[in-house]
Amino acid sequence: MSSEKNGIPYIILNSAMTLDGKMATKAGSSEISGKEDLIRVHKLRKEVDAIMVGINTVIVDDPKLTVHKIQADINDNPLRVVVDSKARTPLSSRILNEDAHTIIVVSELAESERIEKLNDKAEIIVSGKKRVDLKLLMETLFNMGIKTLMLEGGSTLNYSMLIEGLVSEIRVCIAPMVVGGKEAKTLADGEGVDYMKDAVKLKFKKSYNLGDDLIVEYQVISQ
Ligand SMILES: NC(=O)c1ccc[n+]([C@@H]2O[C@H](COP(=O)([O-])OP(=O)(O)OC[C@H]3O[C@@H](n4cnc5c(N)ncnc54)[C@H](OP(=O)(O)O)[C@@H]3O)[C@@H](O)[C@H]2O)c1
Repeated sequence: MSSEKNGIPYIILNSAMTLDGKMATKAGSSEISGKEDLIRVHKLRKEVDAIMVGINTVIVDDPKLTVHKIQADINDNPLRVVVDSKARTPLSSRILNEDAHTIIVVSELAESERIEKLNDKAEIIVSGKKRVDLKLLMETLFNMGIKTLMLEGGSTLNYSMLIEGLVSEIRVCIAPMVVGGKEAKTLADGEGVDYMKDAVKLKFKKSYNLGDDLIVEYQVISQ
C-alpha cells in the first residue's frame, strides 16, 4: 500500500454487495458479508490510518468502525472520519464513542450550534462551502499524517470519491444473494455518467473465495 497520487492518502474503497450490486436492501438492511469476509475487513481496518464513511451510513447503520472481529487492542483502531456537510451526526452515534478518535467533516453550511455540540465528542474540520470538498479534505488528512484511508461507503460517497479521482483501489465482497429493488443502494449511486467513455476505468488485480463470498480487487486507472 503506497500513495500513487500526490499529496493525498492511498485510498481503498471497500464494500460488500449482493450479486445484483446492492449494498443494502431498499429498507437499509446491509448484513451482506459472511464471517470470513468480516475478518478480512477488520484486518484491513487494522492496517490503515483512517476509515471514512458518509453521514447516511452513520444514521442508517450506526457503525462503530473499530477493529473488533479479530485480536486487537484500542491502539489498533484507525482514525474515524464522517463526511457530514450539515453536522447531522447524532450525538448518540457509536462512532462518537471513546474507542477511537473521530473527525466530523462539515461544510460552511453547518450550524454553529450543531458544531459546538459535536465538538465535545469529536474533532470538527470545515471543508467546502455547501457539500464537503473531498479533494481538499484528502489533502488536509494527508497533511495530518493520514497516508492510507479505507472508504467504507455508502453509495453516494463512493461515487463522489470515485468520480473525483480520489480512489486508488477497489475491493468488493460479492455475496451470493439477489435482493432487487430500484431504491436499494448500489456500489456507487450519485449522479452517474451518461456515457461508458466517462466511466471510472479499472484494472483487475485479483479474485478469490472467502467462505461463500467472492472477493474482487481492482486498481483504479482513470476517471
Ligand atoms: N454493504 C456495504 O458495504 C455498505 C457500506 C456502507 C454503507 N452501506 C449502506 O449504504 C447506505 C447509505 O448510503 P448513502 O448513499 O445513502 O449515503 P452515504 O454515502 O453514507 O452518505 C452520503 C451523504 O454524505 C454527505 N456528503 C457530504 N459531502 C459529500 C460529497 N462531496 N459527496 C457525497 N456525499 C457527501 C451528503 O449528506 P449531507 O449533504 O447532509 O452532508 C450525502 O447525502 C446505507 O443503507 C448503508 O447500510 C453499505
